[in-house]
Amino acid sequence: MAKAIDIGTCFIVGAEYKGEKESFVSERDAFFSMPNEDLQLEMLTKSGAFYVQKGDMIYVVGDDALKYSMLTGDVSNYRRPMAAGVLNPNEEEAIDMIRVMIEGVIGKASYKGEVCAATIPANPVDASFNTTFHERVLTQFLEELGYEVRAINEALCIIYAENPTVEVDGAVLPFTGIGISFGGGMVNLVAAWRGKQLLAFSAGRSGDWIDAQVATVVNKPVSKCISVKEKKLDLNNIDPRDKDFKTLQALDIYYNDLIEYVLKHFQKEFKKTEAAIDEPIEIVVGGGTASIPGFVDKFKRVLSKTDLPFDVKNVRLAKDPFKCVAQGALIAAISQEKKKKKG
Ligand SMILES: Nc1ncnc2c1ncn2[C@@H]1O[C@H](COP(=O)(O)OP(=O)(O)OP(=O)(O)O)[C@@H](O)[C@H]1O
Ligand SMILES: [Mg+2]
Repeated sequence: MAKAIDIGTCFIVGAEYKGEKESFVSERDAFFSMPNEDLQLEMLTKSGAFYVQKGDMIYVVGDDALKYSMLTGDVSNYRRPMAAGVLNPNEEEAIDMIRVMIEGVIGKASYKGEVCAATIPANPVDASFNTTFHERVLTQFLEELGYEVRAINEALCIIYAENPTVEVDGAVLPFTGIGISFGGGMVNLVAAWRGKQLLAFSAGRSGDWIDAQVATVVNKPVSKCISVKEKKLDLNNIDPRDKDFKTLQALDIYYNDLIEYVLKHFQKEFKKTEAAIDEPIEIVVGGGTASIPGFVDKFKRVLSKTDLPFDVKNVRLAKDPFKCVAQGALIAAISQEKKKKKG
């Protein structure tokens, strides 16, 4: 029937229809390495953990990796195959581990040539690498699983899932607006007109960058800052009486900085295009970093101080910020499968 996979820096999300309903599987994009010893192996097998053996090492993969890291208090062997939106060049196990995780999340094709849409970031505006290597490696893994692969821009998926519209002379144009995915490793932005990309870019800063900046300025472990961010940050309500006030304040400052950074790049990139948009448009934001309470209000405040060459009608959060990218990719996969069948 066609499937989709959103391979992110923090999470890998698979999507497919089961009967009439969309069904999602999500795994943390991480692994935990430990020596291959009989006792360890027995413990892992008993607990039902997701792991692979390779040479004299065992790699616990996905959500279980975080559990093992917390259980053992060992953070140095908690590793991530991706950084800043692409395969991590500094992680020698990156390619092998991502292959295991992709198969774990999406499995083999149900029939040869089943379409699978895989999300790919746009080329970054603030780094010298391009995303070709990342795209080719992931495409090859999916092809080996039997899929016909459609690589699709991450932010365009938000446009497909959320369908922002614009009104031109009384007619409503679908899939027209701006989609922004604020993920873990990067921000991806697309401006689309009737589902076609007018402009796309990524910036290599997002949740991980905020965590690292905050940890440095408050002099606390990154894991502590992430926990405060995910559990109690509300960007509309930074409470000076909170025991974590300093961390919350730093998170607020770096969220602001991130949004300013993205909009400044957007301003610059938009100027380079020939595009002229006369009608007020809609912006939809998604991704884990945008899921924090108060994010949309903060975005609107920064936007009101940014001079863009068009009016913005509305800014809204995707209905499911964590799954909207996989959801949109599934729409693209199903549409491609239908086209194929029609011949
Ligand atoms: N409640 C939460 N649970 C999990 N992650 C959260 C939560 N709130 C915020 N986040 C943040 O969301 C980010 C992960 O978002 P997301 O899953 O969209 O990223 P990704 O798609 O894996 O990465 P990318 O698209 O950049 O490659 C992390 O920085 C994480 O800390
Ligand atoms: Mg993402």
